[in-house]
Amino acid sequence: MTSGINLAPIRLGNRVVIDWPVALAPMAGVTDAVFRGLCREHGCGYATTEFARDRALLMGIPNQLRLIDVRGDVRPVGVQIFGSDAEEMRRAAGLVIERMAPDILDINMGCPAPKVTNGQGGSSLLRDPQRAAAIVAAVTREVAPVPVTVKIRVGWDEQHKAAGAAVEIARRVIDAGAQLLTVHGRTRAQKYEGQACWDTISAVAAAVAVPVIGNGDISTPEEATHRLRTSGCRGIAIGRAARGRPWLFGQIRAHLLGRRSGAAVPGWTAGVSGRPLHHSPGHEQLSGQPPPPDPTPEERIALGLEHIRRQRAAALATVREQHPRGGRSEAALAQEADRIALAGLLPHVMWYVWGVPGVTAVRRALSQARSATQLADVLGDFAARRHVYAAADRAAGRLPVPDHGSCETAWTASADGGGGPVDRNIQETTMAENAAAETA
Ligand SMILES: Cc1cc2nc3c(=O)[nH]c(=O)nc-3n(C[C@H](O)[C@H](O)[C@H](O)COP(=O)(O)O)c2cc1C
Repeated sequence: MTSGINLAPIRLGNRVVIDWPVALAPMAGVTDAVFRGLCREHGCGYATTEFARDRALLMGIPNQLRLIDVRGDVRPVGVQIFGSDAEEMRRAAGLVIERMAPDILDINMGCPAPKVTNGQGGSSLLRDPQRAAAIVAAVTREVAPVPVTVKIRVGWDEQHKAAGAAVEIARRVIDAGAQLLTVHGRTRAQKYEGQACWDTISAVAAAVAVPVIGNGDISTPEEATHRLRTSGCRGIAIGRAARGRPWLFGQIRAHLLGRRSGAAVPGWTAGVSGRPLHHSPGHEQLSGQPPPPDPTPEERIALGLEHIRRQRAAALATVREQHPRGGRSEAALAQEADRIALAGLLPHVMWYVWGVPGVTAVRRALSQARSATQLADVLGDFAARRHVYAAADRAAGRLPVPDHGSCETAWTASADGGGGPVDRNIQETTMAENAAAETA
């Protein structure tokens, strides 16, 4: 038997309630509306969009406006923006609220990418608390009563972290109006390497009066439980480990609530059926039971096919919005949607088949798809003839792809703009991730 954990709802002002404290961390190129929806259905309690650039929103750049579109999301949902100028951030935040009406406005102060930090945005704000506070104050005034939240790292580098930067920036942005902080336990210098420093996350949680969501390196129900029990955080956020594994949220929920099977476990089947997931919030006693097992390969492939179906539908809605007055046939619109859905889908589909025997052969086939329909065809064929793909891998002497952990290496390399060691087996995925890293 383990000790109690506070799973009570997180309340922001008198408007917003996050009723389950396990969130999806925003990831550029990954956490789009379809993936957020799948994670929410599997038991994730809260999600924000990936970050959108303030100036690009103000200029009306269509792909940035699409990033902040949360009109179909499960509530509550946040939109994350980034920038460096308080006035531009204020105007962009106002635009977000007016056009998309999210429940929460989140400000990014963690992105390590030079193209963001060189412009004084993202994690460079950790070194400029005055500017950071001015941005939060301006945005808070603009969007009130919508709560403003901030996502930070634990410092610019080790020295900055050791000097107490995280607590300092946390206090400044809270004084300026932030009602919740998400703290990623790495420094900017670490990018996505090394380990998240949960001691510093805990120090922030202990120092401030607003809820803190801790983030970094959580990839199993046991780790999630451990961090919730020991960090002093009101919640946790999961990033990379959720890729290709939306059911992780259901496993965490089941582990925390001590239920193992049937309808009480919000596993993948319950999730895809769209049933809302409920629990009785409060100080829960954990059962200490092991979490439910991972879905079978068949279930994972089925989820991949469902993901493709939803992404195509979302792309079709976008294409229809772009051509409101007709002029193009339904078939032409569907074809266009099928093509544009591909780029966002490819990395997800690669992640779904992670570790399934035959993965290298199927990934090769997936990477040749030129439309979402072709992706679905390949995945369907894999479902029907897994033995053929597995035999191809065996014949080529390919070892099964190691389990999920090694994809972090791939992201690390791509976040750096390339260079680090990349597992050959995951190169196709890495190419897609590189595209996301460029944006991030
Ligand atoms: C591909 C990728 C894109 C990311 N994009 C964002 C982003 O748009 N906004 C943000 O606040 N953090 C972003 N992050 C950081 C994650 O939210 C999270 O803080 C980080 O991955 C650590 O959590 P994890 O160890 O659970 O992955 C991104 C991370 C990755 C890997």
